[in-house]
Amino acid sequence: PRIGVVVVAAGSGQRLGYGLPKAQVPLAGRTILAHALEGILASGIAERICVAVPPRDSVLREVCTGASGQVPVTAVEGGASRAASVSRALAGLGPDLDGILVHDAARALTPPEVFVRVVEALAAGAKAVIPAVPVADTIKTAVPSAADQQAIAGEKVAGTPDRSLLRAVQTPQGFDAAALTAAHRSLAAMGPLEAEGITDDAMLVESQGTEVFLVPGSPEALKITTPLDLMTAEALVAARDR
Ligand code: C5P
Repeated sequence: PRIGVVVVAAGSGQRLGYGLPKAQVPLAGRTILAHALEGILASGIAERICVAVPPRDSVLREVCTGASGQVPVTAVEGGASRAASVSRALAGLGPDLDGILVHDAARALTPPEVFVRVVEALAAGAKAVIPAVPVADTIKTAVPSAADQQAIAGEKVAGTPDRSLLRAVQTPQGFDAAALTAAHRSLAAMGPLEAEGITDDAMLVESQGTEVFLVPGSPEALKITTPLDLMTAEALVAARDR
C-alpha cells in the first residue's frame, strides 16, 4: 500500500525542562526528531513524510530537509493541540495515499519492525491499527475525597479495572487514509472541550464507529516526556551502538 507518515513534533517539551522544544532536545548528539525520522526511514514503509513543527522553528525544519531524500520529508507549522498538529500535517501530506501512520516524535526510538507490523495489519484489511503493550502497574481510578475526608488525603480510589484487559498504547497509529481524513473533519466540527478530551487519533476514529485493532508495540517505543525518560533513551542508544 501507499503509506504516508505524519510526525507530530510541535510540542513545547515543558516537562523535559530543557528550555527547548522537545523534538530539538539532543539525544546522543542528535535531535529527538532526527532519531524519529531515522526509525521511520529504516522501516522502508513510507512513501512520504510530513512533520508538524513549532512556529518559526528553523532548527527542526532543517532536520526535515536533512532527512529528505528518496522519501520526501516536508514540514508544516503545528497547531495549539496535538490533534490540530495532526490535522495540519495531514493536509501537508497530500492526496493519493492508501494508509496514513501518525507518529509522535517523542517516541524517537520506536523499532522499525513496529512500523512494519502496523502497515501489515492495514494491508490485511484493518481500517485502524495501533501498537500496544501490556500494563505492568495496577491501575486505579481516582476521585476527590469528600469534604470531611480532606484531612486524610485529597483523593481516594473509585475502582480497579481488570489489569488483564488493559493495554498501554503507543505510536505509530495506522489508519485507512479516507477514515482518518473523515475523522479529522469531524474533529473540526467539535467544541473545544470535547476536542480536548481526544488524546489520540484512535480515539477519534473509535468515536466514528471504526474498529481499532491492536498489534504488539515495544518497550523501546517509550515516549520521551521527563528527564528520566531521556536518561533511559540515552542508555538505549548506547546499547544499540555497542
Ligand atoms: O504533549 P504530548 O506528550 O501528549 O505530545 C505528544 C506528541 O504530540 C509530541 O511528539 C508533541 O511534539 C506533539 N504535539 C504537537 N503539537 C502540539 C502538542 C503536542 O505536535 N500542540
